[in-house]
Amino acid sequence: MMKLQDRVALVTGGGNGIGRATALRLAKEGARVVVGDINEEAAQKVAGDINEEGGEASIAILNVADWAAADAAVRTILDRYGRLDILINNAGIFRDAFAHKLTEEMWDQVVDINLKGTFNMARAVYGPMSQQKFGRIVNTASLAIRGNIGQSNYVASKAGIVGLTRTLALEYARHNITVNCVSPGVTQTQMYWAVPEKVREGLVNRIPLKRVASPDDLAALHAFLCSDDAAYITGQTIACDGGITIGLM
Ligand SMILES: NC(=O)c1ccc[n+]([C@@H]2O[C@H](COP(=O)([O-])OP(=O)(O)OC[C@H]3O[C@@H](n4cnc5c(N)ncnc54)[C@H](O)[C@@H]3O)[C@@H](O)[C@H]2O)c1
Repeated sequence: MMKLQDRVALVTGGGNGIGRATALRLAKEGARVVVGDINEEAAQKVAGDINEEGGEASIAILNVADWAAADAAVRTILDRYGRLDILINNAGIFRDAFAHKLTEEMWDQVVDINLKGTFNMARAVYGPMSQQKFGRIVNTASLAIRGNIGQSNYVASKAGIVGLTRTLALEYARHNITVNCVSPGVTQTQMYWAVPEKVREGLVNRIPLKRVASPDDLAALHAFLCSDDAAYITGQTIACDGGITIGLM
């Protein structure tokens, strides 16, 4: 039997990269998938690919930081499927600069979408998940939570998500909703290709497994955390990073 048979999953940032791979993987595991993204064309494409492969997908166009849009998306999903089991809180952006050069706008955009957006979506799915007495929420941190030059806004938002995950896990546990967090390492998505080539070259050498992650590596972890096999895991941040954050040197 497929791991996620009959589950309904919302994947934010599902139009590209890790979110896209995760949407495809959850569909392969039997879930009905809602591809949530601010980019309608990208979301349509992924939903189309899933439906073509015999899965079941639809789209929700939203900015994850928007309270009303999150509530509307959840209402639409409930009207359509009657339930919502899985939230993959994956949408995220970066706007890098040294702290002394960072503008207020760069700070606000990143913290708004990454941190407030993650909270906002988890808040919006609480109603149906608590009523069902079942839910799986998976947030997204980053290897950068250890600290990274040029990313004060991004690191603050992602480290905030780790604390948020633990707190929501405590609050949601009594309704059998688990809340975990994946922490991707360097992953081959458009975010990765936006990193300067010089920096990319140096990165692979520092990864113990000597390769960057493919989006499918993260999708596999997502599928596991949403499955019944992970029923007793909550509040955790799990790195999927080829070992780049272990060791001292
Ligand atoms: N790629 C990496 O190396 C890496 C490393 C660590 C963490 N991450 C994290 O993984 C997640 C996915 O990263 P990715 O590399 O796949 O990104 P990506 O840029 O390839 O895709 C992100 C998707 O999110 C969507 N999105 C952006 N803002 C949105 C918003 N406000 N509302 C809804 N959708 C929005 C974009 O349209 C896009 O489709 C992010 O949270 C990122 O911070 C990525």
